[in-house]
Order: sequence, then C-alpha cells, then structure tokens
Amino acid sequence: MTDVLRSVADARAFSAGHHVAGRRVALVPTMGSLHEGHVGLVRLARQHADAVVASVFVNPTQFGPGEDFTRYPRDTEGDLAKLASAGADAVFLPDVATMYPPGHATKVTVFGLTEVLCGRSRPTHFAGVTTVVLKLFHITRCDVAVFGEKDFQQLAVIRKMVADLDVPVEIVGHPIVREADGLAMSSRNVYLSAAERAAARSLSAGLADARRAWAAGERDPRALERLVRARVEAAPGADVDYVEARDAADLAALDGPAARPVVVALAVRFGKTRLIDNAVLVPNQ
Ligand code: PAJ
Repeated sequence: MTDVLRSVADARAFSAGHHVAGRRVALVPTMGSLHEGHVGLVRLARQHADAVVASVFVNPTQFGPGEDFTRYPRDTEGDLAKLASAGADAVFLPDVATMYPPGHATKVTVFGLTEVLCGRSRPTHFAGVTTVVLKLFHITRCDVAVFGEKDFQQLAVIRKMVADLDVPVEIVGHPIVREADGLAMSSRNVYLSAAERAAARSLSAGLADARRAWAAGERDPRALERLVRARVEAAPGADVDYVEARDAADLAALDGPAARPVVVALAVRFGKTRLIDNAVLVPNQ
C-alpha cells in the first residue's frame, strides 16, 4: 500500500515514524506523468533506504513565461498505480498552496553552474528547481534522494546546493533510461507528433556517434560537438538550442583536448517540445 501524503505535517509524520525506528528514508522527487525512468529511480531508492517516498508536484516556479506549465501532462491515478507497483511506501502529493502559501518570498540560487547550457535559454529554471527540492528535503526529512542523470545539469546543481548549504542528504544519481530506439524517456515525449518522434531518435544517435569517436581516440571537444550537431541537424524539424562538450565534474568549458570525463549535453526543439539528452565520456573507456 502506498500512503498518500498531502500536507507538510503528513510528510513529517511519515518520516518521523521511520526515523524513530532507526530506518532511513529516501525521497524521489518527480513532476508526475511517470515512466520507466522514474520507476527505476524508485527501485534504486529502495536499495539506499528502508522507506521510500516519491513526490509528485508540477512545480510552477521552474517554468518560465511561455513554457508548458499549464499543459504539462498530469496523470495522478496512473502515477499512484506505478508508484505502488514500483514499491514506493508513500507519495507526497501537495497542491501549489501547500508548497507556496501566499506571501512566499524566498528563493535558493546556485550561481555559475546554472548560467550555462539550459540556464542560457531558461534563466529562472534552476532557481525554481533548487527552491522546491530544498523544500522537499526539509518537508520529507529524507536521508537520501535519487535524481536521474538525464537531467545532468540539474543533478550537478543539486549536488552543489547540498555541498554549499551543508544539507544532510545523500544524493544518488541514476543512469538515463531509454526507449528501445535510444530516445531518453521523458514525460514531454507525449507532445511529439509521429514525425517528430522519429526525428528525435537523432539525439541519442548523435551522442552514440560521439561515443564511438571518443572510443576511437577523438578528444577535441569542438569535433565531438560538430559530430553530434551534424547528426541532429540532419533530422527534419530539429531546432538545436545547444550541443556542448564540457567538463563532467563542474560543467566548465573545455578549450583543449579533454583529459578528464566529459559530458556532451544537448537541448533540441521539435516544434514546441524541447528535449534534452547527454552522454558522459570517460578517459580509458
Ligand atoms: P521530472 O522531469 O519528473 O523528473 C523526475 C526525476 O526523474 C529527475 O531526477 C529526472 O532526472 C529523472 N528522470 C526523468 N527521465 C529520466 C530518464 N529517462 N532516465 C533517468 N532518469 C530520468 O526533474 C524533475 O522532474 C523536476 O525538476 C524535480 C527534480 C522533480 C523538481 O521539480
């Protein structure tokens, strides 16, 4: 049985009950419309804790003006069923007034890391993410939280927030979960038309090209970027926001050949739908 927690007090009581018995609590924050990627996070959370709570909250503060907050897919019944079968013990399902009561006036900002990649076209996005995630940590009093590597920059920003603010939560990353043809699973994939869905395969195909080039010894970040961009731009309807190879540890720009792990990250629009994906390339692999 998955408990449905709707208030801050309910969520606190859930974790207090486990903590008093000496059990660790894991949190899996989500915006719902769950897919197999999210389910993988819940399963991994279970390996790191005795009790798992998933949150489902479409967080308005991380959507910019003109972005898809109002049309973001919502499927509470389906989410509850998937969380139950994935073995979540509870789901935190707050409404907007619970998370942001009238008069809410505080924001958490990580500087630097949030100003590159997705931060260029979504300048207010990451402050919305860090604000809601820190609130979720405090509300659920989780000991560990699991995030997907699909949102590579988000994971880096959250790790930085936790380090800088001495937040006592262990952060665990989960590898990207993909469809059979390579497309990274995303709640936003439902927006794609059949033609866009076919063209979107170019994202993972381009990253696979980069991975092959890397395995063959290519270390020039610009050459890796060009390879991916060429494959994506050949797909009908693809509008590239960015394709960038950066230092995987701190997202720093790379000027010369890469000697440390590199992340090749991209964001591409198909019509109104913006998709992201990435590949981490490690020396000696
Ligand atoms: P959402 O997009 O619902 O994603 C919830 C979590 O699932 C994130 O950690 C994300 O990285 C992970 N995830 C999504 N698709 C994945 C995939 N294909 N493979 C692996 N992990 C995947 O990310 C958010 O929500 C929000 O920004 C949130 C952190 C909940 C704050 O509102």
